Amino acid sequence: MTTEIVRLAGAIGAEIRGLDLSRELSEYDRSLIQSAWMRHLVLVFRGQKLSDAALVRFSARFGELDTVPGWEPFSPEGYPQVLTVSNVIDGNRAIGVLGDGEAAWHTDMSYLDLPPTASLLHSHEVPESGGDTLFMNMYAALETLPADLRRAIDGRILNHDASHDSSGTLRGNHKPFADISEAPGARHPMIRIHPVTGRPALFLGRRLHAWIVGESVADSDALLDRLWAHCSSGDFVYRHRWAPGDLLMWDNRCTMHRREPFDPAARRVMHRTQVKGFEPVVAARAA
Ligand code: OGA
Ligand code: MN
Repeated sequence: MTTEIVRLAGAIGAEIRGLDLSRELSEYDRSLIQSAWMRHLVLVFRGQKLSDAALVRFSARFGELDTVPGWEPFSPEGYPQVLTVSNVIDGNRAIGVLGDGEAAWHTDMSYLDLPPTASLLHSHEVPESGGDTLFMNMYAALETLPADLRRAIDGRILNHDASHDSSGTLRGNHKPFADISEAPGARHPMIRIHPVTGRPALFLGRRLHAWIVGESVADSDALLDRLWAHCSSGDFVYRHRWAPGDLLMWDNRCTMHRREPFDPAARRVMHRTQVKGFEPVVAARAA
């Protein structure tokens, strides 16, 4: 079978055709995927049928896998590195996380000191409509930033709140706080250098409870609101309409994603893995 790489949106995303990911991946195919991934930031493989063991095996070709602190109950039996993302309630117990609502723009687990390099999401069951996932190119978000805004965030550090998930829910292992400058989490450079491509990217994590270290809450909110308005007005986004058997792989260092809500009566079941990352590389300040 020949392998094809097909661009999806001009600015971000490519589909790779002709690979069966349930089979042992050759080193040749691994490096083809790696280079296409660095170039397109999000890769889509359709028509895959991956057991949890196969998902783990494929994901681990791109690095050591991570677990998600606090979400241990949502791993399938025997696969602590796999996270179930689902709205399905079995008896009176949710089988997965994120429910059926919107998951606002974010990167995964940026509230950790070592945020994951990659996330891989494999669809088992999807609703007829709704539940699309959108991906944003954060190199492009930075490149198109007005010069004054770029100067304002140059060398700045952002606190990434650990206590709420991307649906806005307080995580079970955290307590509420009075002021966002007290939010627990990790501090990362707002402009980070991608260690493989060497390109700078805007690194925002998520809007909710984010705080620019050293600013008053009001000034931090004003600056972040301008940054987020810029991001949402840009056209560097790919929208993914899911079919069962899709596998998506994205780079958390240079993309953000969001998930649209869907009919609560529909079933959506996805299995995710995440590849462990390293401390974000700080961009040198412009002179
Ligand atoms: C995730 C996530 C999006 C989706 O798993 O990290 O944001 O489409 N999911 O469910
Ligand atoms: Mn996510």
